[in-house]
Amino acid sequence: MAILVTGGLGYIGSHTVVELINNGFEVIIVDDLSNSEKFILYNIEEITGKRPIFYPFDLRRKELLTQVFDAHQIEGCINFAASKAVGESQLKPVDYYENNLFSLINILQEFKERGISNFIFSSSCTVYGQAETMPIDENTPLKMPESVYGKTKQMGEEILIDFAKAYHRKISLLRYFNPIGAHSSALIGELPIGVPNNLVPYVMQTAAGIREKLSIWGDDYPTEDGTAVRDYIYVVDLAKAHVKALQKLINDNSDEALIDIFNLGTGNGSSVLEVVKAFEIANKVEVPYQICERREGDITVAYANVDKAEKELNWKSETSLEEALRTVWQWQKYLESKNS
Ligand code: NAD
Ligand code: WQD
Repeated sequence: MAILVTGGLGYIGSHTVVELINNGFEVIIVDDLSNSEKFILYNIEEITGKRPIFYPFDLRRKELLTQVFDAHQIEGCINFAASKAVGESQLKPVDYYENNLFSLINILQEFKERGISNFIFSSSCTVYGQAETMPIDENTPLKMPESVYGKTKQMGEEILIDFAKAYHRKISLLRYFNPIGAHSSALIGELPIGVPNNLVPYVMQTAAGIREKLSIWGDDYPTEDGTAVRDYIYVVDLAKAHVKALQKLINDNSDEALIDIFNLGTGNGSSVLEVVKAFEIANKVEVPYQICERREGDITVAYANVDKAEKELNWKSETSLEEALRTVWQWQKYLESKNS
């Protein structure tokens, strides 16, 4: 059974491709390498012993996408491809709407015309904004996100729900909390392109001496140590949830629409300072930091209630924060050896 994985050479996509191959799926990747590199394909092969079929093009090129669907018996799609930098999305809203939504619609046109079901969408906890109560379950009311990036995720969800209802198809909206870490082989991980915006890549580069100091954005939040709290989920655990979500869609034999929505996190919140300390302990390195003003648009606290995924997907995260942070450091060492 061939599964189209868009953005399959990216961070979460590459880890998911490994899990799909390990579970016997045939994988077809479309990725334009706008935020990834070709060596990831060879490293996926090194990990799994199998090189996925790879098409390097932009999903906005509908005619090329049609050729891929003509050439393969595609039975489902996991759609990771998107632009994801929150700050950049504010400066380039049209580009973000175009990339994230046109790509999605082009795939859905193929699905619609060819009668294909089984679509998994990378959504985000950003659709909840600052929720009133913790932990956040799937019934927590959504808030219109502040960023254009977040809006593309909420709009993507709406488009897919309409698609599933109108054409009786099966979709899964996976709302990731904060993915971190790298594969235990250290052959794939989050590629730091430019100055990282996210916490863990910045911590990694600070420990490595690439950045002088980590700026901790605010220590006056109403949390235990004053720094903001998030739910950091290990990327391989997250990847495994995709396989379970896909199997659930495939195994559903009804002709009705199926709209699955799952929060994917650990269920635990960690503060920025806790992450820094855990990184230092896990890797026996120092992470110099300074406390700065709050970052605009940041929320105070977000962590998931993952009961639904546990019950319906038989999935839960298995990896501790420290273990996950250890893989981050191994990945940094790999990148250093590769570039030397
Ligand atoms: P990533 O940038 O590492 O991966 C995305 C991949 O898609 C890249 O390889 C990029 O080259 C490719 N791509 C982008 N636009 C494309 C296009 N038009 N055509 C073909 N390929 C294209 O990002 P990631 O962290 O792996 O995120 C994957 C998905 O998960 C994204 O949709 C993202 O919004 C979502 N998500 C990420 C996080 C996170 O913190 N990393 C959290 C929640 C949701
Ligand atoms: C985590 C915490 C920062 C960097 C973003 C997106 C969200 C989702 C996940 C995709 C915050 C603090 C960070 C730094 C810091 N992505 N921090 N110094 O903000 O939870 O969410 O990624 O869907 O949409 O907005 O993640 O890693 O940027 O920040 O103190 O240099 O670390 O203030 O409290 P965030 P993050």
